[in-house]
Amino acid sequence: MKILNFGSLNTDHVYKVKNFVTPGETIKSTQYIKKVGGKGLNQSIAIKRAGHDVFHAGAVGEDGQMLVDFLKKDNVNTDNVKLSEIPTGHAIIQVDEKGENCILLYGGANQNISESFADEVLQDFSQGDYIVLQNETNIVPCVIEKAYEKGMKIIFNPSPITETILNFPLGKVSLFILNEVEGEALTGESNEDKIILSLLEKYPSAEFVLTLGSKGAIYFNKTQKIAVEAEKVEVVDTTAAGDTFTGYFIANIAMGKSVNEALSIATKAAAKAVTTLGAAESIPYM
Ligand code: RIB
Repeated sequence: MKILNFGSLNTDHVYKVKNFVTPGETIKSTQYIKKVGGKGLNQSIAIKRAGHDVFHAGAVGEDGQMLVDFLKKDNVNTDNVKLSEIPTGHAIIQVDEKGENCILLYGGANQNISESFADEVLQDFSQGDYIVLQNETNIVPCVIEKAYEKGMKIIFNPSPITETILNFPLGKVSLFILNEVEGEALTGESNEDKIILSLLEKYPSAEFVLTLGSKGAIYFNKTQKIAVEAEKVEVVDTTAAGDTFTGYFIANIAMGKSVNEALSIATKAAAKAVTTLGAAESIPYM
């Protein structure tokens, strides 16, 4: 069984600030660092660092070699990371004194992936293989359709959430990994229990993991519900906590761990990730 992650690669420009900049305001940052990121890349790194091989597919511009090298250094397969004429995607990330972040994205090469490239990539994958997707590339609905036809297990992290996601063929997704904000956007509900009921009603054959930040995470499907608590740690930067959780959960399920074990390991990995500044660099090794 192979894991293919068809996802974004970003250069992260990280600015430490006292408080997030507000409309009309100009503020000074206290620190600037250029980091490796992108929800897709972060999740591939997390899958690999959790102990499972992963094939990453996506696109970077000529300025993106650093991201490909980073993946290669961790032995993520990058044969399907394509060189685009468009510049590499990037993120402007403010991290405040509490370790919370806010992120502005430029899609760049991530938003310029063709259907024929998706066909090329998927040629090497078949029934039972996992495909991991987030919402930072332009090709998500098309890849869901194609992967479904092949009988792949489709894992979707609907992040960042956009209105267009509601038009994706989400009935073909096998496993959703999402947070409360994303759950609310998909269901129109704001209460945790109602979000769960509504998701099960809308996508009855899917499995779900709902992450709840400092409150932990819940796995559920039609017949089962398993909750784990979060670890208590000193937060430096929450960027990529969700990506770390997602990659670790997927890798551990793929390696045959129970849902309970996978949730617990993923929660610990995410807790460790928030104790360091940065996205991919902060993802721990198993
Ligand atoms: O989830 C964190 C990631 O979101 C960052 O690395 C940034 O690139 C954005 O994609």
